[in-house]
Amino acid sequence: MCGIVGYIGHRDACSIIIKGLKRLEYRGYDSAGIALYDGKGIYVSKIKGKVNDLEEKIASDKNTNGSIGIGHTRWATHGVPNDINSHPHYSNSRNLVIIHNGIIENYAAIKQELINRGYTFHSDTDTEVLVNLIEDVQKSGSYMLGKAVQIALNQVVGAYAIAVLDIKKPNEIVAARLGSPLAVGVGKDEFFIASDASPFIEYTSNAIYLEDEEMAIIRQHKEPRFRKIKTDLLFTPYVQKLKLNIEEIEKRGYEHFMLKEIFEQPQAIKDTYRGRLLVHNGLVKMSGIEDNLEKFLNAQKITIVACGTSWHAGLVAEYIFENLARIPVEVEYASEFRYRNPIVTNKDVVIAISQSGETADTLAAIKLAKENGAFVFGVCNVVGSSISREAHAGAYTHAGPEIGVASTKAFTTQISLLAMMALRLAKAKGTLSTSDFKRSLVALETIPSKIEIALKSDGLVKEIAENYKDATNFLYLGRGFNFPVALEGALKLKEISYIHAEGYPAAEMKHGPIALIDENMPIVVIATKYGHYEKIVSNVQEIKSRKGKIIGIVTEGDTQVKALADHVIEIPETSEFLSPLLTTIPLQLLSYHIAVLLEKNVDQPRNLAKSVTVE
Ligand code: AGP
Repeated sequence: MCGIVGYIGHRDACSIIIKGLKRLEYRGYDSAGIALYDGKGIYVSKIKGKVNDLEEKIASDKNTNGSIGIGHTRWATHGVPNDINSHPHYSNSRNLVIIHNGIIENYAAIKQELINRGYTFHSDTDTEVLVNLIEDVQKSGSYMLGKAVQIALNQVVGAYAIAVLDIKKPNEIVAARLGSPLAVGVGKDEFFIASDASPFIEYTSNAIYLEDEEMAIIRQHKEPRFRKIKTDLLFTPYVQKLKLNIEEIEKRGYEHFMLKEIFEQPQAIKDTYRGRLLVHNGLVKMSGIEDNLEKFLNAQKITIVACGTSWHAGLVAEYIFENLARIPVEVEYASEFRYRNPIVTNKDVVIAISQSGETADTLAAIKLAKENGAFVFGVCNVVGSSISREAHAGAYTHAGPEIGVASTKAFTTQISLLAMMALRLAKAKGTLSTSDFKRSLVALETIPSKIEIALKSDGLVKEIAENYKDATNFLYLGRGFNFPVALEGALKLKEISYIHAEGYPAAEMKHGPIALIDENMPIVVIATKYGHYEKIVSNVQEIKSRKGKIIGIVTEGDTQVKALADHVIEIPETSEFLSPLLTTIPLQLLSYHIAVLLEKNVDQPRNLAKSVTVE
């Protein structure tokens, strides 16, 4: 998604903004631009391409001095990626300059109205319409910029995070948000605006996360003012003291963020457990659950809404919740749930799972659920994110920043947290004996060390990857708790290597996919020693008889699948409901190594964004 960075203070704005935009590159983008007040005018430079290309473009420009400016990385929504459609955008008078992350849904009607009043447009973007609407409002009542922005935003429908400069009052930046994230960094006589904290965390750990329909008027050498967009009322925001440090953001010696995040999973899961998994006390303690226990216990059903990998985590959770707590669970794609007029009542609990906490479809699904009276519980990774604040209650996975577009530690920390929730509910409902409950807590506690063991297969997985990097199709098969892991493994491969892959319940193979199998087809089979082991062994035999190339994910010590498969990757034994936390590790590594061998952009795969904040 788009990235926004703004600076107002006493340092060189250009270098701070360029560096900040680089910290936001993981969000996915196709163009970059900057606007700087150099003491005389507002200088704008923008380009289709990377931030490095922008940096090169402005290197020789003279008017990049000054300590006020805004910068933007664009992920195209309206208008193809090109220089003209890049941000920042001037208003017609060139007095105003804007950058924007989001979608103005009613921009066409506003644009026509402005054309009727004599405005002209150079780009195909909704953003250029917005800056001219603000200008039109300003002119109509000789308003200061802040008031004009507030009035204009009450006329738009859609999502926005914006920053606006006005040459008539150049020592001020007006920022506002609805639906797209925006944080204000509060330094010593300097302020930052950004889509998340990474561009300013090295300068200040004091952050204000604007809520929906809030705006900030940031002025040089003065205290910022915060207003509600609907009512124009002033308010004093909560300043968060962030613990995120820049070192966490760097790759810490790994070639890619994705590999770093795969290897961070043991620590990330420990962080998810912290203060919640109390094995010695025989307890799981999660305030969000404790405070709302009755709602969960009396729920007619639990509906899980999510997208992508988070949806896969939700599918694992369905198996865990129903097995342990015997609560009916349905898992829905948020993008479908929000439009299919679902039956949701005040007897329902909806769990929204989202790493970024900004996924538009998931946010919309939550709003629909709340409108129908459901209790909404958010499982997010980003503190202060929109979904975490829209939900009635929730729990953070505390996985730390996940920069790689392909979600890895978010997936395993989501499952870990959801498993704790299911155990807590099972205990409260008495559907799990005390001894089984305690045994499960111990099994949970051993997961980080077992992932460490699973990660030791990295070298073997890399060798296997070399055999299959040129395949054009993969099939991933799993049963029970590991069926969702087959889906997740296929998604990982698709999104970073661009090889087509499909996940299937293993038993479904004979209902169609088996027709695909020949000697050129690699099939990854999750064949761990649990419930349906014998059945999955016969699936492996069916594949073998059709000359398919079998990569088996097996429980350490397995001999049966080992005798049949072309390759096996062993993982440690654990409780069946926790096995997805281990079986997913070799699949993450397999997709990573194949993508690296194919020289793909592992951390920023084509066409993808880390957080899909628009429909
Ligand atoms: C997974 O690797 C992808 N990056 C994508 O499917 C992602 O899981 C999905 O967009 C949901 O994102 P969220 O968890 O931030 O809501």
